[in-house]
Amino acid sequence: MNLSVHQKKEKTFKILVLGDVGTGKTSFIRQYVSQKFFINYKATIGSDFAIKDLDWDENLRIKLQLWDIAGQERFSCMTRVYYRGAVGAFVVFDVSRAATFEGVEKWKEDLDSKLLLPTGEPIPAILLCNKCDQSSIIKKGKIEKLCHDLGFVSCHETSAKDNVGIDEAIKVLISKILQTEESLLTTLSGVHVPIQEEPKKNSTNCCACHLPRSKKET
Ligand code: GTP
Ligand code: MG
Repeated sequence: MNLSVHQKKEKTFKILVLGDVGTGKTSFIRQYVSQKFFINYKATIGSDFAIKDLDWDENLRIKLQLWDIAGQERFSCMTRVYYRGAVGAFVVFDVSRAATFEGVEKWKEDLDSKLLLPTGEPIPAILLCNKCDQSSIIKKGKIEKLCHDLGFVSCHETSAKDNVGIDEAIKVLISKILQTEESLLTTLSGVHVPIQEEPKKNSTNCCACHLPRSKKET
């Protein structure tokens, strides 16, 4: 049954956008929220946030709070405050700068050490390989391995400049958040939750990476 506009359910999701300095976090958010891109770099200080209202389906409206955490914040002790209440995260690196790929692990560890679901599991997080309009110096196999090893939901190539992959990455994260919320409700209400099957050993994908097929080989 479709609910009328006034009866639509509303949810607010706080989503963190993390990653090293200059990887394109602000640009990613700005492109998604206002379809704008600026070539000039202006460092974010502390944190900032943007809101986007989204009609998810005919029965649900989502208010996305996208928290833009300054890359330089990894070296401060403020992240715990910024992370509070978040239900999902993006960790961004720049495919043209290897040092930012090295930074991914630190960001994910920082996130998982400061914020967990009531079940003790990490909150859903997606890895963004940003600036894919430029040539990548990181091998696809390395990205997929890191994505799997660090427990990311998936990894996606994005370009905040050309508006590539952004909508898809957001959709995948929201779907995962809704799914997590659903299973948390079931768990917390004491209903038996079936244990998920282990992924097949010979599966060709190490994780749900959304990298283009042709580029997957290293
Ligand atoms: P901090 O606030 O310092 O943490 O940086 P940030 O991650 O918010 O990076 P920002 O969005 O400010 O982008 C840094 C620089 O990269 C800017 O000059 C942007 O124009 C550029 N940039 C961002 N995304 C892309 C992209 O997808 N492609 C290209 N070519 N340049 C990008
Ligand atoms: Mg910024």
